[in-house]
Amino acid sequence: MTQEQGVQMTAVEINGVDKVFETRTGQVQALDSIDLTVAAGEFVSLIGPSGCGKSTLMRLVADLDEPTGGTISVFGKTPRTARLDQEYGIAFQQAGLLPWRTVAGNVALPLELHGVASAARSARVTELLDMVGLSDFADRYPDQLSGGMQQRVAIARALAEQPRLLLMDEPFGALDEMTREKMQTELVRISAETGAAVVFVTHSIPEAVFLSDRVVVMSPRPGRIQQIVPMRLGVDAQRAARTEELREERGFFEMVTAVREALHGGSPIATGARGVENR
Ligand SMILES: Nc1ncnc2c1ncn2[C@@H]1O[C@H](COP(=O)(O)OP(=O)(O)OP(=O)(O)O)[C@@H](O)[C@H]1O
Ligand SMILES: [Mg+2]
Repeated sequence: MTQEQGVQMTAVEINGVDKVFETRTGQVQALDSIDLTVAAGEFVSLIGPSGCGKSTLMRLVADLDEPTGGTISVFGKTPRTARLDQEYGIAFQQAGLLPWRTVAGNVALPLELHGVASAARSARVTELLDMVGLSDFADRYPDQLSGGMQQRVAIARALAEQPRLLLMDEPFGALDEMTREKMQTELVRISAETGAAVVFVTHSIPEAVFLSDRVVVMSPRPGRIQQIVPMRLGVDAQRAARTEELREERGFFEMVTAVREALHGGSPIATGARGVENR
């Protein structure tokens, strides 16, 4: 697959997806008629109240569970084939590290699975650990790290193979504010450089605005897409150009307001002026 072909493709296509969980006390409808297309290279965030089905949707895309109805494709493949082909990297709410492997060993895992030669592998691991600020911890084990550090190992692991899709479920939730902003800037840079599409779950409105091309606002359970808010951050705010200064610009605050209003079920009049797509 050449990069040109990759760019034209759709990364994720979700059509009419429902998810109902059978529980001892009855059925729980977690997702209701979800339609969403994420273009190759696009950064899309999902935001919505706790329990609205964000993680469920991510798990369906990642083939960790199956929809009750509707279809999902990842680069034109079923989620299962995409998973087996290692089309995406994952960083979820729980870091999910292997406790018997060192930090370096965890980051190297996807490279090992893909048969990357030893020298290239250790060079890449060094580069990744440097990027997430864990160079001094390569030989430690996960239980010797703080939650935020474990999460950074998981992010390094997700990026190891420069996947063209990253699925990230609150990956920065356990980080302190300084590290979190640093990781956001890094993620923007990485996704712009590698052209990776990202589907990103967060509870933070400023985080969603800073990172995204579009923010998908979900309603309380059963999760539906309430609005999709395109981030219009001004001429200089191509993703690659998003830097710390952006956080203090007026356009940034306007987008924060637009997403907040959408989350609170803001009136179409208030948000429509900013070009919000109503659903
Ligand atoms: N395996 C399961 N069995 C039964 N119900 C489930 C299961 N997984 C999730 N649910 C239910 O589905 C709904 C959506 O859960 P989900 O974890 O997707 O929410 P979320 O939007 O990620 O929430 P949060 O923001 O708190 O992470 C919730 O009501 C939850 O209780
Ligand atoms: Mg969740």
